[in-house]
Amino acid sequence: MVTKKKEQPVFICSQCGYESRKWLGQCPDCSSWDSLQEQRPVRRSRGRRTLPAPELLERVQEKQATRLVTSIKEVDRVLGGGIVPGSMILIGGDPGIGKSTLIIQLLAKISSDENKVLYVTGEESAQQIRMRSERLRIKGRNIYVSTENSVESIVQLADEMQPVLLAVDSIQTMYSEEVGSAPGSVTQVRESTAKLLELAKGSDIPVLLVGHVTKDGAIAGPRVLEHMVDTVLYFEGDRGQVFRVVRTVKNRFGSTNEIGVFEMKESGLAEVDNPSALFLAERPVNVPGSVVMPSIEGTRPILVEVQALVSRSSPGNARRTAIGADPQRMALLTAVLEKKLGVTLFDQDIFLNVAGGVRIDEPALDLGMVVAMLSSLFEKEVDPGTVVCGEVGLAGEIRAAGQMEMRLREAQRLGFHTFIMPKSSVRQVEGAGEVTMTCIGVSTVTELADHLFNAPESVTV
Ligand SMILES: Nc1ncnc2c1ncn2[C@@H]1O[C@H](COP(=O)(O)OP(=O)(O)OP(=O)(O)O)[C@@H](O)[C@H]1O
Ligand SMILES: [Mg+2]
Repeated sequence: MVTKKKEQPVFICSQCGYESRKWLGQCPDCSSWDSLQEQRPVRRSRGRRTLPAPELLERVQEKQATRLVTSIKEVDRVLGGGIVPGSMILIGGDPGIGKSTLIIQLLAKISSDENKVLYVTGEESAQQIRMRSERLRIKGRNIYVSTENSVESIVQLADEMQPVLLAVDSIQTMYSEEVGSAPGSVTQVRESTAKLLELAKGSDIPVLLVGHVTKDGAIAGPRVLEHMVDTVLYFEGDRGQVFRVVRTVKNRFGSTNEIGVFEMKESGLAEVDNPSALFLAERPVNVPGSVVMPSIEGTRPILVEVQALVSRSSPGNARRTAIGADPQRMALLTAVLEKKLGVTLFDQDIFLNVAGGVRIDEPALDLGMVVAMLSSLFEKEVDPGTVVCGEVGLAGEIRAAGQMEMRLREAQRLGFHTFIMPKSSVRQVEGAGEVTMTCIGVSTVTELADHLFNAPESVTV
């Protein structure tokens, strides 16, 4: 006699999607504690199905991939030139950062007399959406709102309506009727996304998903969500500040690390055309510990101010804090400075900040961090018309950074007159058209310190 096998429970990590047959206190994959939740298996019909025959690649019909241009320049930029038909875009961000605001503004831009758009929200009522759109003075005519939570119903609705864009706010409030667990659980988030993905790929309707972000910055629900979608955008910014940065983390149709800069106003998100000027607007001049660095975010140069405060710490308790920059990188650079310049930093607190709430990941920021730290340590200001850029190696050597011409042009445009850069980059930059700035090449941190702060050996700290 064949007995039916009892369905075994499955435990899934809510952080990374790791699956286990038994409950564990700590996820073996991502090491988060108490993150494994019991999930009921998804019931799927068994048996043989008729399969579509695979197509020969060269015979696959090329689609007219006309992107849906949103006419919000900053959004088009992060998407690589508009929304690709049938693509799925995930927008993640902290609570209250402005995700729903961005979505409704986008929908309004895309909707027209011929183009319907559908906004499905599980978070707010239709009245609340209306109130927000009044405040933002949204004029779009063909925007439809639904407060449906079941993905099966949403798919049916979209199939019937054929909107040019479907927005779902947020994926954590949606549920699939085929899954037993509550909305927001890992299986639900995954299944709901899979259902919407099927809709997007099958009908060419692009889908915009909002995803909440957990305390540590990951999109709540499994990481697998990021693998399923085509594009992942992160909404960043300090809520205390008016700037908001939308950053591309993943894009199957364009460059990553592209950023769009917005200002949050009562009338909604306004594009910022000239972010460099904005980030430098409140820069203190002739103050030690501050220097400007031309950074490249995606395809665009942005000048940022790097600030450092180096001050004597309480004995044996030196603090190291980096905001907007990698703290590990800062630790590495302090070690290089101690070794190569002989400065004493172990008894100093070091605070580093990239002003304006932007985060810079590129290694070319090294020189900015080094100069800001030395400037604060020596209490000597850097000339306010100077920018610095380059990577610092463990031996104290200064290495080339990419796209120097673009950085130089942006610095020139904003009226800077001196560019301190890796020696190897000087010739390359000077051969590339009109240069009105003075380019100074440095090959080691010692040379850099000599040039900017006149031989650090003579300074007693
Ligand atoms: N009257 C107002 N004037 C200026 N800014 C406002 C006003 N009302 C709301 N905001 C801004 O809008 C933000 C909320 O935007 P929104 O609701 O789009 O965020 P969200 O990311 O969708 O939030 P949630 O995670 O709650 O869904 C507020 O944090 C605030 O900055
Ligand atoms: Mg919202």
